[in-house]
Amino acid sequence: MREAEIQAALGDLPLGGLRFFERIGSTNDEAATWASAGARDFSVVIADEQTIGRGRSGSRWFTPAGTALALSLILRRPHTEAAHAGRFSGLGALAVVDVCELCGVESAIKWPNDVLIGGRKVAGILVESVWLGNELDASIVGIGVNVQAGAVPPPESLAYPATSLETEAGRPINRIALLRKLLESLQRWRELMDQDQFIRAWEERLAFRGREVALGDGHGTVLAGKLLGLHADGSARLDSNHRIVTVHAGEMSLRPADDRMG
Ligand code: BTN
Repeated sequence: MREAEIQAALGDLPLGGLRFFERIGSTNDEAATWASAGARDFSVVIADEQTIGRGRSGSRWFTPAGTALALSLILRRPHTEAAHAGRFSGLGALAVVDVCELCGVESAIKWPNDVLIGGRKVAGILVESVWLGNELDASIVGIGVNVQAGAVPPPESLAYPATSLETEAGRPINRIALLRKLLESLQRWRELMDQDQFIRAWEERLAFRGREVALGDGHGTVLAGKLLGLHADGSARLDSNHRIVTVHAGEMSLRPADDRMG
C-alpha cells in the first residue's frame, strides 16, 4: 500500500482525517495520541505494517507488510456514544462481517471482538478509550484483518486457530478496495449504534449462539453455559446451570465448550 493509492481510493469518503504509515508501532497508539491532540471524529490511522501491533489482554497482533488491514478509527461524540461504550467492538465486528460477505464468505462474530470464518479467526478488534479527566474523550476502534495467508501467525503462537480472507475466498483480494468497503460499512453501522437494531444485528451474527461455551480470563475457564445472546450494552447473556448470567467483555474470551484447544 502506498499513501497516494490510499488517498486516491478514500479521498471522497467523509472522514474526519486520514493518516497513513507504511510502517508503525501500533495504529491504536498513534490514534490515541492524535485523539489527545484534537483529531476530529471519524479520523482514521492506517498502516501497511505494524511492528508492535497489540491485541486484547496484552497479546501481540501480527501485521507483516503487504498482507493485512490494520486501522484505528477515532470516534468522538461523547454525549451520545458514552452510553454505548460496550457496543464499539460490535461496530468493528459488524463491519468486518459485511466485507467478508462482499468477498463471498460467510463469517460470524465470536463475542466480544473476533470475526471467524469456518471457526477460524480472520479479524480482531481492540477498543480503547482516551480519557480527559473522568470524561471519555474519544474511543479508538482498532481493527486487524488477515487478508492474505502471510498475515496469519505461525500456529504455535496462536491462542485460537486463524485463517485469512483470501484463503477462505479462494481468490486474491484487493486490500485497498476492501479498506474502502470496510470504512463505508463502519460509517453505516455507526449511525445505527444507538438503536435496538444494532444489537439485534450483532446478536444475529454471533458465533456459537445457542451452544455451550466456556468463558476464560486468560488463566482458565471462569464460566461455562449456553450462549443465549446479548444485552443492550453488548454484554453476553448465558444460561449457566439454569441461571441467567450476564458477562461483561472486560478481558473475557469465549470458545465453544467442546473445543480442545484449552
Ligand atoms: C485481538 O484480537 O486481540 C484484537 C486485535 C486488534 C488488532 C488491531 S490492528 C489495528 C489496531 N492496532 C493495534 O495495535 N491493534 C489493533
